[in-house]
Amino acid sequence: MQLAARGFDLLLVARDAERLASVAQDVERQFGVTATVFPADLSRDEPTRALAEHLAKEERLSVLVNNAGFGTKGKLVTRPIAEQGTMLELHVFATMLLSRASLPGMIERRDGVIINVASVASFTASQGNVNYCATKAYQRVFSEGLAMELFGTGVRVQALCPGFTHTEFHDRMKIDKTKGIPNWAWLNADRVVRESLEAAFGGGPTGVIPGKRYKFLVLALRYMPMWIRGSLQERYSRARI
Ligand SMILES: NC(=O)c1ccc[n+]([C@@H]2O[C@H](COP(=O)([O-])OP(=O)(O)OC[C@H]3O[C@@H](n4cnc5c(N)ncnc54)[C@H](OP(=O)(O)O)[C@@H]3O)[C@@H](O)[C@H]2O)c1
Repeated sequence: MQLAARGFDLLLVARDAERLASVAQDVERQFGVTATVFPADLSRDEPTRALAEHLAKEERLSVLVNNAGFGTKGKLVTRPIAEQGTMLELHVFATMLLSRASLPGMIERRDGVIINVASVASFTASQGNVNYCATKAYQRVFSEGLAMELFGTGVRVQALCPGFTHTEFHDRMKIDKTKGIPNWAWLNADRVVRESLEAAFGGGPTGVIPGKRYKFLVLALRYMPMWIRGSLQERYSRARI
């Protein structure tokens, strides 16, 4: 919505075609931009490659947001292998492929922003969250390296690293949001998007961590002794297992 408010036409991608169409209608009505839909399961090879081809040919592509993602609840040994594979396909392969496909055109036009939605989880590891943390770390480190490669090309890359944010994410995992996660820890999705776009279009850093409390937490996580970090992770993990 905030990209539409800035005047960008949108290409909306998700699996639920009906919901996409309804969001597209709302966006067009509210902001007077064009919103096209591209229903696709980005954990599957064929639709992801079809989207990549589409992006490579789209001459007006100036912003790519790799946002699709999901979490799971429970230790790795109890989770279906296919589900964990899906997470790797979506968070790792789709992020790489769609970024790669968008780059030649963006570089040629000397204009582009790629926002990869990673997470504060990318700075840590936790039980019940093994592949989520690992794949989010991939997205963050991938973005940081790519940003360096693109220096001077006019194309910028952002690793957006939000903490707990009110969306459907935890409901889909059937996580009780009131258990183990204090109220102060929750961010509002509008604020996360606002901080991301302000940084992306305002010459901000590659790594964006919305909210002062999370900037401080990430700093602390980097320098915290392992035993304190372990006990904090244990507390949060109880909600996930
Ligand atoms: N909420 C948080 O606390 C939080 C914190 C840090 C990072 N994040 C990250 O933020 C990103 C957005 O999540 P959210 O919080 O907005 O969760 P959400 O409300 O559950 O939204 C997830 C979005 O991804 C789409 N999606 C999921 N699987 C997909 C697939 N296989 N192919 C295509 N689209 C798919 C969903 O649409 P369909 O179901 O229709 O496909 C939906 O639009 C994720 O990458 C997540 O890891 C979230």
